[in-house]
Amino acid sequence: MLRIWIPDLARNDEGKKEIPGQVRKDEMTKDISDQIKNDRDAQFYFGGILMKSILVTGGAGYIGSHVIRLLRKNGFHPVVYDNLSGGFKDFVSSFDFIEGDIGDFDKVMFVLKKYDIQCVMNFASFIAVGESVQNPLKYYENNVAKTLTLFKAMLQSNIKQFIFSSSAAVYGNPAVVPILEESPMKPESPYGKTKYSIEEVLKDLTVSDSFHAMSLRYFNAAGADESGQIGESHVPETHLIPLVIRAVLDDSYTVTIYGTDYDTPDGTCIRDYIHVNDLGEAHILALKKLIETNQSDVFNLGNGKGFSVKEVIESVRRVTGRDFKIQEGERRKGDPAILVASSNKVKLQLQWQPHYTHIDSIVATAWKWESQQKRKGY
Ligand code: UFG
Repeated sequence: MLRIWIPDLARNDEGKKEIPGQVRKDEMTKDISDQIKNDRDAQFYFGGILMKSILVTGGAGYIGSHVIRLLRKNGFHPVVYDNLSGGFKDFVSSFDFIEGDIGDFDKVMFVLKKYDIQCVMNFASFIAVGESVQNPLKYYENNVAKTLTLFKAMLQSNIKQFIFSSSAAVYGNPAVVPILEESPMKPESPYGKTKYSIEEVLKDLTVSDSFHAMSLRYFNAAGADESGQIGESHVPETHLIPLVIRAVLDDSYTVTIYGTDYDTPDGTCIRDYIHVNDLGEAHILALKKLIETNQSDVFNLGNGKGFSVKEVIESVRRVTGRDFKIQEGERRKGDPAILVASSNKVKLQLQWQPHYTHIDSIVATAWKWESQQKRKGY
């Protein structure tokens, strides 16, 4: 069996003699992927320690594809499992990738065993609040029923560590902002209810089966990796920042503001936008903590600062230097007026620090991604 040794870049000890077959920092990805191709059972060592294999379901999607790169950078061995309903094969071309559905019990069982998985991160979920109101069964089927199948396979394989992509949508229309983790969970959209349901299941599994999970409640993930290789690509796209940028790039497209009569200073909804790599870094910290302590916990992942729809539109104007067409429309069903995180807990307990704290810096990375590629669809 091939043993691959990777220098511990985090500890900056690339020169350590005990690590044979070192690869240079800038060549690491290609080198590893070439070796993987020749030996699918390869074991990965990081700073002399056997790397843990993490199953990343939905790893070919927007957030998952950013997280797998961070996992690799941090010495883990990500294995991507994705049915490609919302993900892209070219986002995972240098990774171990298995095409499959989380509802396919036998296939999940096979993958968990083959790769000696230690922990599962689940990004294989539908995420559009508006669509969930129109088509709730689609959301309950994938985000709940199939996720339960994934848990069943994990338990049967004796894998009991899980990182869950939860959502700010579990809070519904919060009475107090910024929102603390202890705030009441009153999800309003079917999407939010699916995330709430799984959080409840996880609590029960902690008691019944010594299952341990980190539930990470995402606020609005946005932006793209600086490499320009991966970015937000939902089909169809429903998210604000990519759609405003679409209006910049496409004269025939008019972006609609969904509601201008909310109880906010400018009448439009306020959201807490968090850069996708900052979000990803929090996953790495949560994973390390879970492995170290085997304790379940819940964290909000947001910047702690809100921007209205109109402020996001202004930011896109500033960053791109261009004007575009906008129109005011009706409210979108299921949208709460304000969602802003208290991010104190993740900062204090996981020592997480966001690098992208202003909306312009997040929009700039989204603009770089959107403007340099032919979109796959909106
Ligand atoms: N919006 C518009 N016009 C558009 C698109 C969106 O005005 O064309 C508005 C929405 O009404 C909302 C805000 O922009 O007020 C942000 O909407 P997004 O669709 O970009 O994101 P959401 O807040 O609806 O949802 C996102 C994720 C969810 C997650 C939530 C947490 O998609 O999975 O953030 O805050 F739960």
